[in-house]
Amino acid sequence: MIQEALKSLRKGEMVLVFDADNRERETDMIVAAEHITPEHIKVMRNDAGGLICVPVSHENSEKLGIPYMTDVMNEASEAFPVLGKLSPYDIPYDEKSAFSITVNHRKTFTGITDNDRALTIRELADICRDGRHSEFGDLFRSPGHVTLLRATDGHVTRRKGHTEMSIALMEMAGLTGVAVCCEMMDDRTGNSLPTEDAMRYAREHDLIFMSGADLIESYREFRS
Ligand code: 5RP
Ligand code: ZN
Ligand code: CA
Ligand code: ZN
Repeated sequence: MIQEALKSLRKGEMVLVFDADNRERETDMIVAAEHITPEHIKVMRNDAGGLICVPVSHENSEKLGIPYMTDVMNEASEAFPVLGKLSPYDIPYDEKSAFSITVNHRKTFTGITDNDRALTIRELADICRDGRHSEFGDLFRSPGHVTLLRATDGHVTRRKGHTEMSIALMEMAGLTGVAVCCEMMDDRTGNSLPTEDAMRYAREHDLIFMSGADLIESYREFRS
């Protein structure tokens, strides 16, 4: 299963990952940022429907210098006290939010179109792959329409979110440590898509579906 998933990711195909029954209980579509196309963004918008986000590995986050949004808000709370009051200490499914800043590539127009979002994401993967992290501020602007997520140091060994699981997949596949993920929603109910429906979607679209438990187990074996 994991080898099939890694093969798909290397080919630029999406895989579906359900986190866990004791967490968000969400299935995310995940694809490698270096292979993102406008078509992927369209599928994520229409068939997944959640928030399109970009997990960035801990190493790349450090080199880019991107902060957790919570840290930005705490720092800014002296000038804007409400930002301190908004502190997300009570997330019901995890200890810490992975949200970082939002960005657009400076070559985008509005930043939201499928073409613009794919451009922003691919260029971010490119500068990380090429070790051009120092060009980040010159090439991108913030706020933008692509939400970056910061993977925890230690990745899935420390936090078991889709952020860390996406990065674990990239690492195992030998891909750049930048990914794209989007939660699958249920158009009928407005809730998260039930797991059996996500599995059916995977079958119908010839995509790999994985549980977080299997992914984390594979990653442990990969690292040992
Ligand atoms: C951002 C989210 C998603 O759940 C995404 O999967 C990343 O979060 P996490 O790492 O907590 O699973 O909330 O849209
Ligand atoms: Zn979520
Ligand atoms: Ca839809
Ligand atoms: Zn998630």
